[in-house]
Amino acid sequence: MSTHIGASPGQIAETVLMPGDPYRARWAAETFLEGAECVNEVRGMLGFTGTWNGHRVTIHGSGMGMPSLSIYANELIRDFGARTLIRVGSCGAMQDNVALRDVILAMTCSSISTPSRGLFREMAFAPCADWGLLSAAHAAAEELGVTPHVGGIYSSDVFYDERPDLDAELTRHGVLAVEMEAAELYTVAARHGARALAVLTVSDHLRTGEALPASDRERSFADMIGIALRAAFA
Ligand code: ADE
Repeated sequence: MSTHIGASPGQIAETVLMPGDPYRARWAAETFLEGAECVNEVRGMLGFTGTWNGHRVTIHGSGMGMPSLSIYANELIRDFGARTLIRVGSCGAMQDNVALRDVILAMTCSSISTPSRGLFREMAFAPCADWGLLSAAHAAAEELGVTPHVGGIYSSDVFYDERPDLDAELTRHGVLAVEMEAAELYTVAARHGARALAVLTVSDHLRTGEALPASDRERSFADMIGIALRAAFA
């Protein structure tokens, strides 16, 4: 048991998938895992452990934003021994050649600030994905008939962004999409020698204003879980 995770020692697997939404964690566990049991409900942040193709996996919510994700990533690694953490979530596209429902594998994440920012002071640390996971996720996506975009993303502190100038600059520099968690996940994992990756699907488009209806999101979410599970155990 840790401060925010009520699981007993041994109840969390070494491989953890982290959707932002705890109800998505429950859906994914019920849909993809065998023998899934709920191992955390503290503050409604649900976590489940079961098996996929014989491998032990935990699917645990991260909440929204880097401060929330940081709490869970730190505790999962430090208190429960998690070694592979894969964020599965949504993002807003920032490039014209990225469409709604497309899958993005985040190679690196730019940010204005993260909860780890204080450690680095004047240094602009460059959080990056674990190469083994990234390449395995690319192969897994192709196996599933999905052609993913691979590149840089922006991890923002705000959903309702008041900086259109910044968005334009990031688009000009080839940043594929914006979300709110991956930079801190990559940084915390790096600090502890763990592997991390973010597999994202495009739920809205900053350049066209389009957005997926909630009912359409389940299919994209299922693709991401399939890619993440295959990559984790490749
Ligand atoms: N996650 C999904 N869409 C997003 C957006 N437009 N901004 C930040 N995070 C997001």
